[in-house]
Amino acid sequence: MKFFIDSANLNEIREAASLGILDGVTTNPSLIAKESNVNFKEHILKICEILNWEGASVSAEVVATDYEGMLREGRDLAKIHPNVYVKLPMTKAGLQGTHTLSKEGIRINQTLIFNATQALMSAKAGSTFVSPFIGRLDDIGHEGMGLVGEIREIFDNYGFNTQILAASIRHPLHVIESARLGADIATMPFKVIEQLLKHPLTDIGLANFLKDWEKVKQ
Ligand code: E4P
Repeated sequence: MKFFIDSANLNEIREAASLGILDGVTTNPSLIAKESNVNFKEHILKICEILNWEGASVSAEVVATDYEGMLREGRDLAKIHPNVYVKLPMTKAGLQGTHTLSKEGIRINQTLIFNATQALMSAKAGSTFVSPFIGRLDDIGHEGMGLVGEIREIFDNYGFNTQILAASIRHPLHVIESARLGADIATMPFKVIEQLLKHPLTDIGLANFLKDWEKVKQ
């Protein structure tokens, strides 16, 4: 399973990369807006320079809502670095954009997926990733994780290569369930990455080892 960080913060991205578990980064306009005074394209390049190995993936989202605008922005973003994946929203224009840009070899992360038909249509149109938003479904009383399972079943039924990118992850259980259900990727905030590696018994165990070691006096 691939781990992506859902962040546009360079310090968080560098720290996550230093852990040796990072395969990619997802950004969106809201995450970019949290970073003060950045030039969008320059910032995406800086992220790509951190994740500069072959096979890493950095998702950058278009803000145009019309087909022509999405093509223009998508082509522009794809030129920034070979590791850029273009994020297109799951709208009619977004689907048309996926169809056109994927044929040009631009890898598409179809974002804002909230049901299985959207995922199926996106895969048929040629997306590389579909991003079901788990946490936002939970927020409105729908079990987000069920959607990951549904998409997995459908993609396996027909042999789609499109990867399932579990997004809008809020806590470690979302990551565990995504892994159990066969999501290819989980993208998560830095806080969740930190939570994944922690256990109170590890801290207590280490504190006890160090306390006992003081008695050895070496
Ligand atoms: C994914 O690509 C999105 O950027 C992200 O996961 C959205 O998460 P949120 O619902 O916490 O904003």
